[in-house]
Amino acid sequence: MRKITIAIDGFSSCGKSTMAKDLAREIGYIYVDTGAMYRSVTLYALRHQLFNEDGSVKTSELEKEMPNIKISFQLNKETGRPDTYLNGECVEQEIRSLEVSSHVSPIAAVPFVREALVAQQQNLGKDKGVVMDGRDIGTTVFPDAELKIFVTASSEVRAQRRFDELKAKGMPADYDDIKKNVEERDYIDTHREVSPLKKADDAIELDNSKLTIAEQKEWLISHFNHIVNN
Ligand code: DC
Repeated sequence: MRKITIAIDGFSSCGKSTMAKDLAREIGYIYVDTGAMYRSVTLYALRHQLFNEDGSVKTSELEKEMPNIKISFQLNKETGRPDTYLNGECVEQEIRSLEVSSHVSPIAAVPFVREALVAQQQNLGKDKGVVMDGRDIGTTVFPDAELKIFVTASSEVRAQRRFDELKAKGMPADYDDIKKNVEERDYIDTHREVSPLKKADDAIELDNSKLTIAEQKEWLISHFNHIVNN
């Protein structure tokens, strides 16, 4: 069966990565979480004091540090999913912290950061057989991807999902704060100058507000089968 490239883009907290990971496992493809790469650079920048007091990035200092930031993925045998490594250290948990989440947008807007990570992503997917999720995969990283999905869900549904997730982990959560954060990130992601979040013209839109995980999976597999069998 021929191998293809699958690009999954969309807003934050709409279940893109769960969907992409499940699909990759089901069809035996590599999964690449590009958000984890922007998050890893953010963690490095936090650890090395590369943010100004106002939250902006110390760009010239970060530019000098870029060659020292090595990001890789290794399969976790317990979860069956890849974990993210920063300079050889597993940072899978730490990059999901609120501190990283609230500093990642300015990092993802820095042109040389995007350039470096996009090159690395293109290299990871050069042999096809990859499911990559992010914001600019179908538009910038792999504009020729055979299957492009653009995932959406209302901000209320996405905030509720994050609220439920945090509650389930016993973590403090306020629905209104979460919804505000989701909407702020949507705004920043769609309005930044470099590679803003935008549906590629040939992407298929999936509004998953009312779909179960099983229904989403079925929907994806049928699109995948349609492409590889034609
Ligand atoms: O998908 P995520 O929430 O883990 O992504 C973290 C941040 O990285 C998010 O604010 C948008 C940014 N990002 C990006 O600009 N381009 C990508 N391809 C992936 C993520």
